[in-house]
Amino acid sequence: MSVLITKILSRRLLKYPQNYGIISTISKAHVIFRGLCTSESGVNLSIYENQETRVSPLWLRHHCQCQNCVHPSTHQRVLIPGDLRNSSTVKSVTLDKKSVEENIKIVWNDDHVSTYKIKWLQDNIGDNYAGLNGSENNNVDSTTDISEVSVNFDDFLNNNNRGLQKFMGHIQKFGFALIVDAPPDTVSTKKAIERIAQPQVTMFGGLYEFQSDLKHADTAYTSDYVHLHTDCTYFTEPNGLQVFHCLEHIGEGGINSVADGFKIAQEFSREYPDQYEILKSIPVPWHYIDPGKYSFYNVAPILQHNPYTDKLQCLRYNPHDMAPLNTIPLVNVSEFYESIINFSDKLEKKAVWFKLHPGMILFTDNWRVLHGRSEFTGSRKMCGSYITRSDWLSKFKVMFGNVQDGSNACTYLNGTLTSYCKHNFSK
Ligand SMILES: [Fe+2]
Ligand SMILES: [Zn+2]
Repeated sequence: MSVLITKILSRRLLKYPQNYGIISTISKAHVIFRGLCTSESGVNLSIYENQETRVSPLWLRHHCQCQNCVHPSTHQRVLIPGDLRNSSTVKSVTLDKKSVEENIKIVWNDDHVSTYKIKWLQDNIGDNYAGLNGSENNNVDSTTDISEVSVNFDDFLNNNNRGLQKFMGHIQKFGFALIVDAPPDTVSTKKAIERIAQPQVTMFGGLYEFQSDLKHADTAYTSDYVHLHTDCTYFTEPNGLQVFHCLEHIGEGGINSVADGFKIAQEFSREYPDQYEILKSIPVPWHYIDPGKYSFYNVAPILQHNPYTDKLQCLRYNPHDMAPLNTIPLVNVSEFYESIINFSDKLEKKAVWFKLHPGMILFTDNWRVLHGRSEFTGSRKMCGSYITRSDWLSKFKVMFGNVQDGSNACTYLNGTLTSYCKHNFSK
């Protein structure tokens, strides 16, 4: 929003209607609550310092938090938009100072009473939605000690949730995390996954074992080098978490790599803003073909932004799964290739390498972190799985307080997880 529009809107918000009365003045640490006023068209609330906010009575009535309007057990709304037509005229607005937290009380024309905590109003009025974004404090690089992003298998499963909380914190902060000292069997993979959520069932199965036998039409089922990529770019919604459990490797190579796509994209946008725009705006077709069995196809840009917050939300990039690029206007082809070559170079340079030994389980945030591995010899058996993004974010929010969209959880994490990584990953 431009500065000019913001100013015009603020001026509009500051305009008082004629029929109101200042009720009280309360100073709090970050809030000056100066009064309330009502009119036919809106309720003026001073819930932010030096600013009057006129709120639609329809919004306030729709957001009544009482048990008749929000079901106390299901947390689903009982009141639906159609109910608002005849019940959204304000009769009176008062400030309740008796409770520990100040509440605003509104009596409506049908004598229904709504009570709102001021903090709740501050959090929810207007376009406050910030979304859940990757932490910008990811200092993981090739000099990082693996223990900084690891949690012991038994601690992870422990009922006190501390291990799980620490683990989910690592995923939020670094985009990936490791479980160590797990028995190298699929029963343990299943236990670890189900600690977070049910595995997502795809054409690979729910929980799938893989080795270099080309059981599926994917480079993961070969012993070839696999370049950094995210999985399921060809799905309408790529998988949320990616899980790899090493069960056995008798041979050489097979070193895993990860790269924090969000961090790299952020640097890329600073260095090459025009190229960033190209990868953000030009959609790319992705596909998975297994003749007679599957034909997945989806079109989406590599740097997919949230349409509401305009922040990077999902990095979709698998150089192995690009379908014919029939989405690029002819005049943009050369700049598209310039951008993608440049971005791809940057990804490969920033890869963090480490060996997954038997009993180590790697989880990556597949909307943010890319993964790959070097070629290998011998027998290498892995067990893998996916968890949907909805499922892992739900668990994450439950772990860190049942917040609406996880943004409070991020603040909490950034405040508590202060240890940075200093030592060596074994390459
Ligand atoms: Fe993959
Ligand atoms: Zn109500």
